[in-house]
Amino acid sequence: MILVTGGAGYIGSHTALSLLQNDEDVIIVDDFSNSDKRVLENLEKLTHKKIQFSELDCCDEQALEQVFIKHTISACIHFAGYKAVGESSKIPLEYYNNNITSTLIILKLLKKYNAKRFIFSSSATVYGSPETSPINETFPLSVTNPYGRSKLMVEDILRDIIAAEPDWSIGLLRYFNPIGAHESGLIGERPNGIPNNVMPYISMVGAGKLPCLPVFGNDYDTHDGTGVRDYIHVMDLAEGHVAMLAKISKEVGLSTYNLGTGQGYSVLDLVTQFEKVTGQKINYEIMPRRQGDIATCYADPQKALKELGWKTTRNLQTMIEDTWRFEQDSQGKSR
Ligand code: WQD
Repeated sequence: MILVTGGAGYIGSHTALSLLQNDEDVIIVDDFSNSDKRVLENLEKLTHKKIQFSELDCCDEQALEQVFIKHTISACIHFAGYKAVGESSKIPLEYYNNNITSTLIILKLLKKYNAKRFIFSSSATVYGSPETSPINETFPLSVTNPYGRSKLMVEDILRDIIAAEPDWSIGLLRYFNPIGAHESGLIGERPNGIPNNVMPYISMVGAGKLPCLPVFGNDYDTHDGTGVRDYIHVMDLAEGHVAMLAKISKEVGLSTYNLGTGQGYSVLDLVTQFEKVTGQKINYEIMPRRQGDIATCYADPQKALKELGWKTTRNLQTMIEDTWRFEQDSQGKSR
């Protein structure tokens, strides 16, 4: 059985769905600090399966150990964690405690219960301010905020573990910018309050819930001056985890992959495409650059293609259609 921490959250729920659709047995743990219980009902609707689930905080070792006692866990995919970059600079202690303590506890339990297989949600943020794009996995690592540092610290911990205990199987997945939702419109991203990330923001402007998109800078060295990123459909990302699980189920060692499309789009590209796909006008206003942002960041995803046989199949149009379907289906339900 695969333990999916944070399995009610955005990427966790889509990955749990992919795993279940691939006939894996899954147990989700989540404390609902940034997710909703209705996600579990919707996963049941989508899979026609009873979802195994335990409400707990992964920093609660005793509660988590009960899951290992009750179920035979063979691997863990660890999504549970805090993820707001700005907030991490305001409450670093909470970020380090939550993101690192939880990981240490899970690793300890995996070892104790003889299931040394672990997939970690890392982020392209560990590349800091890369000099060029596309970015491959050998690029230098650096970080500029506590959120990013918590990701890099866990990566370092995992590299130390594999050096000392080579019988672990570990996958480090560095996500670029996940957007979109499952095509059913039943699960998707539901940020609390005003979104930090650009696509949820655009979607709320499209739905009339926010008046205007702030565009952070139009003087970058990019084709239209606005920031360029590698937006990846969350279901493509989910399928990357299924491919990674296949690898760690048969091989020991640690391997690291970028999960991105290899294609960059600017903020204004998103706005234009969103208007075209949905027919909604997106008002925007050019604002000063956001601190810590870089001009361009997109992946070289070749390593994942070569070694995992994984590549993305959903284009920007599909990402926007699915974002919009979820936005409309969730109108009035919870925000
Ligand atoms: C994308 C582009 C902004 C909001 C962040 C984290 C990263 C990751 C994903 C998390 C940039 C511009 C944004 C807005 C805008 N991790 N923008 N107006 O910054 O690439 O990555 O989220 O778990 O670690 O750093 O994503 O969506 O915030 O920004 O113009 O209201 O959109 O300047 O160019 P980012 P983003």
